Amino acid sequence: MEAFKNRLDQQKIPQHIAIIMDGNGRWARKHGKARVFGHQSGVESVRSVVEGAGEVGVKHLTLYAFSTENWERPQYEVEALMELLVHAIENESELLMKKNVRLSAIGDLLKMPRKVKEKLDGSIKYLSANTGLNLVLALSYSSKWEIVNAVKTIVAEAIEGKIKPEMINDTMFAQYLNTAGIPDPELLIRTSGEYRISNFLLWQIAYSELFFTEKLWPDFRKEDLFKAIFDFQNRERRFGKTSEQLLM
Ligand code: IPE
Ligand code: IPE
Ligand code: MG
Repeated sequence: MEAFKNRLDQQKIPQHIAIIMDGNGRWARKHGKARVFGHQSGVESVRSVVEGAGEVGVKHLTLYAFSTENWERPQYEVEALMELLVHAIENESELLMKKNVRLSAIGDLLKMPRKVKEKLDGSIKYLSANTGLNLVLALSYSSKWEIVNAVKTIVAEAIEGKIKPEMINDTMFAQYLNTAGIPDPELLIRTSGEYRISNFLLWQIAYSELFFTEKLWPDFRKEDLFKAIFDFQNRERRFGKTSEQLLM
């Protein structure tokens, strides 16, 4: 069968794809290794997917790398993940530069260890003039945190008299989220055969197409991304309307 990439409709490439990269621990166990080994292997999947997204012209790729809830994991795993982040950002920046990738981050970044924050800020700055794919890392991210944070800011501005209740609508509210300025993802992918959202982009995925795969994240490659996009392109997105209306 022809590769999925060649079967894609270039006019219907999603502008924004979000991925819940799950299954690293199970992948490691399957290979008789410690969980951390799975996280390390997952970096190769990230590299492949970032490359693939750039190749087909995706504008924004948001990767769920660490959730607010993940802070509750055993300390050694959290520490290993933070170390891995530092190294990954350090080692991948040059390649991202070559690929014209821009980097940004969403989440409660002040909770990140100083070393991670510094590397991240440095890399974001280094890649800021790039014009290709915008790679968005969700770090210490949870959607409920993000929404509550937005509400706090809006209320504070309302108290100052800058905002009136009638000014609040969904377009305005979205500007107070970490994803302000980025279109909502048309496609959300989750690996590892789990069928849940795990506190990711609840507001932004209101009308996203969901794609679930049994593949564990370290086995996921750009060809799997192309397959998900192909699947997406063959769906009918009705947005509450009827099929007949879409033909008009
Ligand atoms: C996803 O893989 C990576 C992170 C959440 C950081 P997991 O570590 O959740 O792997 P499983 O789900 O336990 O297999
Ligand atoms: C979601 O995966 C978070 C990330 C992929 C970073 P988890 O493995 O933490 O989610 P649950 O526990 O299965 O919901
Ligand atoms: Mg998991």
